[in-house]
Amino acid sequence: MRIILCGFGVVGQNLVKLFDSRSEDLYAKYGLKPRVVGVFDSKGSAVDQSGLDFGKLVETKKKFGTVGRYADTQNQMSGKDMLKEIKADVLIETTASNYKDAEPGMTHIISAMKRGMHVISVNKGPLALAFPSLLELATYNQVMFKFSGTVGGGTPILDYAKNSLRGERITSFAGILNGTTNYILTNMGTGVSYDEALKDAQDKGYVEADESLDLDGLDAAAKLVILANWIMGMKVTLPDINCTGIRKVTAEDIKKAAKENCLIKLIASCNKELTVSPRQIPDDDPLCVNGTLNAIAFTSEHSGTQTIIGKGAGGMETASSILRDLLDIREEIAGD
Ligand code: HSE
Repeated sequence: MRIILCGFGVVGQNLVKLFDSRSEDLYAKYGLKPRVVGVFDSKGSAVDQSGLDFGKLVETKKKFGTVGRYADTQNQMSGKDMLKEIKADVLIETTASNYKDAEPGMTHIISAMKRGMHVISVNKGPLALAFPSLLELATYNQVMFKFSGTVGGGTPILDYAKNSLRGERITSFAGILNGTTNYILTNMGTGVSYDEALKDAQDKGYVEADESLDLDGLDAAAKLVILANWIMGMKVTLPDINCTGIRKVTAEDIKKAAKENCLIKLIASCNKELTVSPRQIPDDDPLCVNGTLNAIAFTSEHSGTQTIIGKGAGGMETASSILRDLLDIREEIAGD
């Protein structure tokens, strides 16, 4: 399977490491032979129709900070040109989420779909701002559009609701969809101040480069948009979410909640409304997970409430969600 990889940050690098370490078993078990024919990052690109060497790509990035130095040629193909000229079956979009105009990911996804390429995105920006129209574009161009890693990282939250609960009618859901704010609130629960907890999360590398994405609830809201569209069949985008982050949560709020045997969590919920806000949750509720964990409880008509818990971020975890999507595409193509 020929792949173009957009972005070569932590997720992209872990993905090619995964391809490298699992190559024999991926072929033996699933008939999947990933061939990365093009990669680009913000500073350069590498192209080889016969397949780029995974180890060399990672080494080049480590040494020069870009894949652009992979070959000794001066001619760097821009990402835009690569998407126009290089033939591939799947585009994997891993550039950073941007909730203002969703670029450059939006252009990558649209160009690929128009050329008949299947798309896997772990970039949430384009889905948060244009989920309904991207899904239409995929259908119109008869390509598959997969985004399992956008919610829950390696934890298959979307697949669980869509496939494991197939036939059920999910009536509502609520969850902790942002690991960073959960880490901060968990630490505040042990008496640490907001500023100290934030600094600790920053030191550990959890907080997004633009801290507002975590702290003001935008990341959780983007995930809520994806869930609402994909699981509940709604046609919504980011402005439809009623969103409040954690900046105003005080030590007093946490103490008050503790007196009632509750913890304060940033909850994204879909009931009558789509809301992200800090809420008191009983400390024995399965949703009440700590640290950077994510958890989501789906309530359905016949099978009650079920909670799925797992890590919501991480380079290798997110790379494994891409592999899951790739295997689905491989299977569907083989089925056809
Ligand atoms: N900033 C996000 C989080 C990363 O803390 O959950 C995963 O989307």
